[in-house]
Amino acid sequence: MSAAETVELAPGTFHLPGYLSPPEQRRVLATVQALADGAAGFYRPRVRGGGFMHCDMLCLGRHWNARTYTYEWQRSDHDGLPAPPLPLALARLAVDAAAAAGFTIDPDICLVNRYGDDGRMGLHQDKDEDASTLDAGVPVVSLSLGDSGRFLLGGLRRREPTTAIELRSGDAFVMGGPGRLRYHGIARILRGSGPPVLGLRGRVSLTFRQYALAAGGS
Ligand code: SIN
Ligand code: MN
Repeated sequence: MSAAETVELAPGTFHLPGYLSPPEQRRVLATVQALADGAAGFYRPRVRGGGFMHCDMLCLGRHWNARTYTYEWQRSDHDGLPAPPLPLALARLAVDAAAAAGFTIDPDICLVNRYGDDGRMGLHQDKDEDASTLDAGVPVVSLSLGDSGRFLLGGLRRREPTTAIELRSGDAFVMGGPGRLRYHGIARILRGSGPPVLGLRGRVSLTFRQYALAAGGS
């Protein structure tokens, strides 16, 4: 964890380029690959309208249901298996990245997205966590691995203009406080742009959240 710089792009919205060192990136990827090889691995979520998302997902801690936009313990929109636990070593990375941006988080959820060459994610807000978290501005922390993603950062309303930022392997991104509910998305993946030593084709992102402010929130 070696944030050379912390760039505040908008209030409460921070880009930490090169946050994870190459060995840390390899460790995180190995952890993700071990989880992916377990019983409850990556799957391609289907959304409300019946279409598929443009990335695979693997939810840790709690499962995010792409049909209901709610969190649950089991993957009821897929195979009914329990969401695998969030490993402490991953959660710690999010705690430290949040701290580098001046925020506190006790993460209990991580959504791991895996994007292929044509992967993308439409503009959206992360607002399915408990109101206690959203009201307090507890951040969402993301870590990027592999190929770069063209990240779009919008405003608090959908029609506000967006700014494009390249999220490279090892970058962290933190949206908290007044930035917690900003619209964002992934416009495209920059094929072949990742560090060759990582041996990852495509892009993996890990997005950490704290479901509720008080321990034991439902
Ligand atoms: C997301 O907004 O859920 C994912 C963002 C990313 O892949 O960096
Ligand atoms: Mn999001």
